[in-house]
Amino acid sequence: MSSENPTPNNTDKSATTLIHRPRRLRGTATLRRMVQETTLTVDDLIYPMFVMEGEDQKFEISSMPGCYRYTLDLLLKEIAQVYQLGVGAVALFPVVREVKKDDLGCESYNPEGLVQQTVKAIKQAVPEILVITDVALDPFTTHGHDGIVDENGVILNDPTVEVLVKMAVSQAAAGADMVAPSDMMDGRVGAIRKALDAEGYINVRILAYSAKYASGYYGPFRDALDSAPRFGDKKTYQMDAANAREAIKEVALDIAEGADIVMVKPALAYLDIIRRVKDNTHLPVAAYNVSGEYAMIKAAAQNGWIDEKKVILETLTSMKRAGADLILTYFAKEVALMLAK
Ligand code: PBG
Repeated sequence: MSSENPTPNNTDKSATTLIHRPRRLRGTATLRRMVQETTLTVDDLIYPMFVMEGEDQKFEISSMPGCYRYTLDLLLKEIAQVYQLGVGAVALFPVVREVKKDDLGCESYNPEGLVQQTVKAIKQAVPEILVITDVALDPFTTHGHDGIVDENGVILNDPTVEVLVKMAVSQAAAGADMVAPSDMMDGRVGAIRKALDAEGYINVRILAYSAKYASGYYGPFRDALDSAPRFGDKKTYQMDAANAREAIKEVALDIAEGADIVMVKPALAYLDIIRRVKDNTHLPVAAYNVSGEYAMIKAAAQNGWIDEKKVILETLTSMKRAGADLILTYFAKEVALMLAK
């Protein structure tokens, strides 16, 4: 490792006496490396990826430059590559065609559905990579909500959980290593755990989106899946950005219900929440560096306003420093390439 700066001499005739000089430990690149408190590695990364029907096609998501919706064949190639680069896990999100959507999200538990087929194919092609599936209704519903909606527009909790359970079991049957409920219905982690166990999937893990906020940062993701809610917003199920103690309550419930890993989402505007959660659990903590956070960095970089690589690494390091053990990030491949150098 070479330093950009000249290494200061160990003697300096111009100096007076001072007991503490924190700069001593910053004087050389080697020493800086040795006293570094937080290290970002490829093992921390989970790569969210979008899959669509069809063959031999990929479409760039306009609000997420560098991110694509892939058909399964191209997705498999991409996954083989990112696994080679050391990324250990992918989180799958399906682009569901409008004709397959309905009010109840029934396509979500079709054993031959896009997600289920994709999981099977990945597990054949790249068996070592961990496949995480999303458990939520929004890509599958005509209204774009994560739950079943009654005639007054109210999101119904318990009937939604019944569908989530079927979805999670069908994903496990397809070979998912981990299911990740991202819907924020009450009681879904416990219901999913119970159903998975009853079907013998005792080793399928649950990554719970425990503290998921109603956030403006999800915009580009909703573009990617064409899943923006057709009416209202998600504030009756996702959390209020102003709340921190409530995050601890949500995390505690998910742990009590059997979560293996808990997650805070989004990450950047919620670093304090990541820290609080970390201080309140012995489980691994994940953070989701969401689409809007990705888009902001890409947009500023495209304008030449920031140094993209520096800002990516600084941002992800801040999440680790805050307490994240794992980071879901659309930068996963880029970062794996950077860290490989
Ligand atoms: C929905 C879901 C969302 C994201 C992941 N799962 C969006 C939402 O809640 O509307 C967002 C991810 C991102 O913005 O990167 N279940």
